[in-house]
Amino acid sequence: MLSSVKNPDLAAQREVLESISPQIAEYMQRHRDSRKLWMPSDLLPAHERSDAEHEAELVALRERARGLPDSVRVALALNLLTEEGLPHFHRLVAQYMGHDGVWAEWNNLWTAEEDRHGCVLRDYVRDARLFDMRALEQMQYQYIESGFNPDWKDDPYRLLAYTSLQEKATQTSHANAGRLAGQYEPKLQRILAHICADESRHYVFYRDSFAAVLKVDTNRALAALASIAPSLAMPGHNIAGYAQMSEVERRAGIYGPREYLKLIEDLLKHWAIDKLDGLSAVGRAAQDKIMQLPKRLQRMAEYVESKAQARSFSFDFIYQRAFEMAAGRGG
Ligand SMILES: [Fe+2]
Ligand SMILES: [Fe+2]
Repeated sequence: MLSSVKNPDLAAQREVLESISPQIAEYMQRHRDSRKLWMPSDLLPAHERSDAEHEAELVALRERARGLPDSVRVALALNLLTEEGLPHFHRLVAQYMGHDGVWAEWNNLWTAEEDRHGCVLRDYVRDARLFDMRALEQMQYQYIESGFNPDWKDDPYRLLAYTSLQEKATQTSHANAGRLAGQYEPKLQRILAHICADESRHYVFYRDSFAAVLKVDTNRALAALASIAPSLAMPGHNIAGYAQMSEVERRAGIYGPREYLKLIEDLLKHWAIDKLDGLSAVGRAAQDKIMQLPKRLQRMAEYVESKAQARSFSFDFIYQRAFEMAAGRGG
């Protein structure tokens, strides 16, 4: 459920969102014009009339996938689980942005696109025989059943700030996992590249939508961003073993505080946060807080790296096989 604290600005914010809806409709059209709509079976065919050639490709795929290091498998599992959290996100977008009009239309389009991500990744890990599937499925079940209810205080601008950051974060994480997987399994890299291209367009949509809000309701938008950006709760954080899985991603150079710092820097620059003026006291305080963030994140990244030591990891979904990892960047 929503936090019991009501947002006194909600009616005014809804009006702002309504006022920019023609612009949002344009962004949605731009998105439609630029996408290439692929389907999971374009990448991993599974037709009734599959032939011997296709069967041979499946055997070859499994053979190549055997070479994937456990760290890459863990990243793939975490990224798959994150994608499978889609029911939470469809609900949150509907809850914060409403059930009709252009935002609802976007929510449905976006959900349909995102749904293919979990689908194709699951098809891949199943075809490739990468995991103890029941262990992975149990995690997914637990993630969906336990819900995801970030405390956004009924503020739709926080949803837009969150989704801008989150799309870029998932894009980064899929791209880096793909880069590491590619030398063993080019097919997996190709699948991840298709997902990345979607995430990149989603990112542009949310980034520009937030920019439109920032333009007409600057102070409130800054306050929303200042409350979201300092610690982006990744959607899977209530999955058992999530902390260890994200630590594997950090050490592998797939996703961690450094990658988050980079995306924050890029976004602050794109939105020209430091150049916004004529602000209220609340807006100025939010701007200051946001502009301090890169330095804070830099210190956090250094702290995490200085504390880390080489260690071993093991997970149920890879049969509790132990694998060693170095401390990660700087360590
Ligand atoms: Fe996705
Ligand atoms: Fe996305």
